[in-house]
Amino acid sequence: MKGVILHGGSGTRLRPLTHTGPKQLIKIANKPMSQYALEDLVSAGITDIAIVLGDVHPERVREYYGDGSRFGCRITYIEQERPLGIAHAISLARDFVGDDKFVVYLGDNILEGGIAEYARKFEEGDADAMVLLAESDHPRDFGVAEFDGSGRLVGLVEKPRVPPSNYVLVGIYFLTPSIFGEIARLKPSWRGELEITDALRDLLRDGGRVGHAFVRGWWKDTGTPEDLLLANQRILDRMEADFLDGRSVSGRVRLGKGAVVEEGARVVGPAVIGDGAVIGDGAFVGPYTSVADGAVIRGAEVENSIILDGAVLELRGARVVDSIIGAGSRVRAGGSVPRGIRLILGENSRIEL
Ligand code: DAU
Repeated sequence: MKGVILHGGSGTRLRPLTHTGPKQLIKIANKPMSQYALEDLVSAGITDIAIVLGDVHPERVREYYGDGSRFGCRITYIEQERPLGIAHAISLARDFVGDDKFVVYLGDNILEGGIAEYARKFEEGDADAMVLLAESDHPRDFGVAEFDGSGRLVGLVEKPRVPPSNYVLVGIYFLTPSIFGEIARLKPSWRGELEITDALRDLLRDGGRVGHAFVRGWWKDTGTPEDLLLANQRILDRMEADFLDGRSVSGRVRLGKGAVVEEGARVVGPAVIGDGAVIGDGAFVGPYTSVADGAVIRGAEVENSIILDGAVLELRGARVVDSIIGAGSRVRAGGSVPRGIRLILGENSRIEL
C-alpha cells in the first residue's frame, strides 16, 4: 500500500501564521503537524509516500522532509498549482499510485493511536474504499455519513445543513485506483472544489464497496488557532517524558539538547522545551506550553501556548495565555504591560508593548 499526504490548501483560518508557509508545517508540541501523519504511515509499514504540495511556500516542505530517508521512507513530491479541492489533489497522484491500494492522509489531521489497524483491515479486505468516522457535536463542519436502518453506509455528504448523522469523515481515506474514474466525472461543489466526499458518494452509488471504521482514539482537524492549542494540550498530555520534581523544572517536561532554564526561572509541565531554547530569569513556563528550538522567554509567564522557533518574549510581569507566537517573532515591553495578553502572531513579527 502507498501513502499520499495532502500538504496544500490555503489555510486562511490560520492567518497570519500561514502567510509564510503551509499550515501543515506549523509545529504542535514541537513537531510539524504533517509529521504526525508521516509517522503514522511509516508505523503502519507504508514507506512509499507522495506529498502533494500547494502554492504556499512549497519549498519549505521539500526542505524539511527531503527525500524522506531521515523519517524511514521514500518521498515523491507532486505539485498542485491551486487549491482546487481534495479530490483534485488526489487525482494528481494517479501515476504515483499505479495499481496499488493507497491511503490519503490530510496533513492537518491528527489521529491518536495511528492507522496501523485500519490499514491492515483495508489491506486484507476487498473493499474499493474505506472511510474512518468519528462522532462529532458539529457534523455540519465536516463530511457526514448516512446509514440505513441496518447500519449500512448508504451515503456521504459534505458539510450538510441538515446532517443525516453525527458521524463525520476523518481526513484519512483508504482508496483503490477505482476512485480516479469517479473524480474524473466530478463537478465542482458550492465551494468551487472537487470534493472527495462527492467522489466516495458516487462510488457508493455506482455499486462500489465502501467500508467504514469508527476511530477509537482522539482525532482533531486543526483548522483554527484554538484547534492547534487543543491538539497541543492533548499531545503534551500523552507525550513520553520523565516526571521531574526539581525547583526549576517540575512535572512532565521534555527538555531539548542545550536548552537552558536559568536560575530564577520555572517550568511546570506538561511542557516541551526545544533544543537551545532559553527560559530566562523571572520567566514561568506553565502547563500546556510548547517552546520550540532556539526560542527565548524572559520575565513573562506563559501558559497554554505555542512559541515557535527562535521567537523571543521579553515581557517582565506579563501573563501570556492561549497564544501562538510565530517563528522569529519578537515581543518586548518597554514599560508596564497589561497583565493578561493573548497573541496570535505570524512569523518574524515585532511587537513593542
Ligand atoms: O478534516 C476532515 C474534513 O476534511 C472532512 O470531514 C471533510 O469531509 C473534508 O472535505 C475536509 O474538510 P475541510 O473543509 O477541513 O478541508 P480543507 O479545505 O481544510 O482541506 C483539508 C486538507 O487538505 C488541508 O490539509 C489542506 C489540504 N488541501 C485542501 C484543498 C482544498 C489540499 O492539499 N489541496 C486542496 O486543493
